[in-house]
Amino acid sequence: MKLRSRAPNLGCRFMLRFLVLVLCGVPGVRALDNGLAMTPTMGWLHWERFVCNLDCQEEPDSCISEQLFMQMADLMVSDGWKDSGYTYLCIDDCWMAPERDSKGRLQADPQRFPGGIRRLANYVHSKGLKLGIYADVGNKTCEGFPGSFGYYDIDAQTFADWEVDLLKFDGCFCDMEHLVYGYKYMSLALNRTGRSIVYSCEWPFYLWPYYKPNYTEIRQYCNHWRNFADISDSWQSVKSTLDWTSSNQDKIVDFAGPGGWNDPDMLVIGNFGLSWDQQVTQMALWAIMAAPLFMSNDLRHISPQAKALLQDKDVIAIKKDVLGKQGYRLRKEDNVEVWERPLSNLAWAVAMINVLEIGGPRSYSIPVASLGRGVACNPACLITQLLPVKRKVGVYQWTSSLKMRINPTGTVLLRIEETSYL
Ligand code: GAL
Repeated sequence: MKLRSRAPNLGCRFMLRFLVLVLCGVPGVRALDNGLAMTPTMGWLHWERFVCNLDCQEEPDSCISEQLFMQMADLMVSDGWKDSGYTYLCIDDCWMAPERDSKGRLQADPQRFPGGIRRLANYVHSKGLKLGIYADVGNKTCEGFPGSFGYYDIDAQTFADWEVDLLKFDGCFCDMEHLVYGYKYMSLALNRTGRSIVYSCEWPFYLWPYYKPNYTEIRQYCNHWRNFADISDSWQSVKSTLDWTSSNQDKIVDFAGPGGWNDPDMLVIGNFGLSWDQQVTQMALWAIMAAPLFMSNDLRHISPQAKALLQDKDVIAIKKDVLGKQGYRLRKEDNVEVWERPLSNLAWAVAMINVLEIGGPRSYSIPVASLGRGVACNPACLITQLLPVKRKVGVYQWTSSLKMRINPTGTVLLRIEETSYL
């Protein structure tokens, strides 16, 4: 396609684009000032895949033990995960002994973590990775282990002493009166230790049943925050997470930005429940949502295809884009959802999901002028498809229409670059 000459009004268009980006929400909201999570955190978290398996007699390879985390640490380095950006190896619930020690400190279960968390942290650090841990703002964790209520300072200091790098702070067994106070208190307590600890909250998720959370405040205290129910290994779960996010996008999208992110929960790619196309959808949409990427899978047994998807550098580049803006659903029509996300250098990411769960691949056409708030392809753009396979789609003009074929429950992920910027 031939490009029109557009040199004379270049300045105006740049100005227009700048204004569009400013008016469409730059988070003026202050982030937690700990210098962390300037792009969404990436790593591995045990929960979805390994849940609360305590039975190391019967299932030594999948119980929650230091062996599991050491094996994952080894693989994160040897199999390219660390190089792809997955650096936080995170423990979820069920690591603790049932009681605190005589000084009131949390302790790891001595059978399953014989070396304790400090030694595990040393091991993880020796691999160039970081260690995450889990605790709860209330009286007990969701699985009934000791909660941090009444022990916030001691627990923050214990995690710092162990050289932990991230805390996932859950919200079970806490009344509403204390939940907000507890989340804030723990943030300050972590800061007071002087150690850089990413603070991952579930604060809004626990508040939504009662009232609309105050995201301005949440962003000031947390590096990421879960809004919605736990993900599980199914399309229904991934789809309901997307549905919740799009229905609430006006309330949450503008609060994401460097230092603080909405967290739609773990990536379940590489497990049992998602078809290939559904795995593509999860990877593409988590990038559009500027989500933290915590895989929960078994790195010892993962297909080459799932591994390549999770390590796709073009998709990870979108997720980590330095503009740091979360995308949103632009439209839903005829069982196709179109999502888009502004990127640095005036580029845009666009995802088209075919949500129809019957039939085969379907074609969908959209005027390029309707993408990227009307400026993504003005006057022309280069479109590259990143998923399900990488290919050049071509150069399009503002007046063109873009036609894609999308598999049922699958997604086509595109990168759109305005040609004058290339
Ligand atoms: C849930 C939380 C999950 C997991 C689990 C552990 O509340 O949302 O992600 O951490 O507790 O018990």
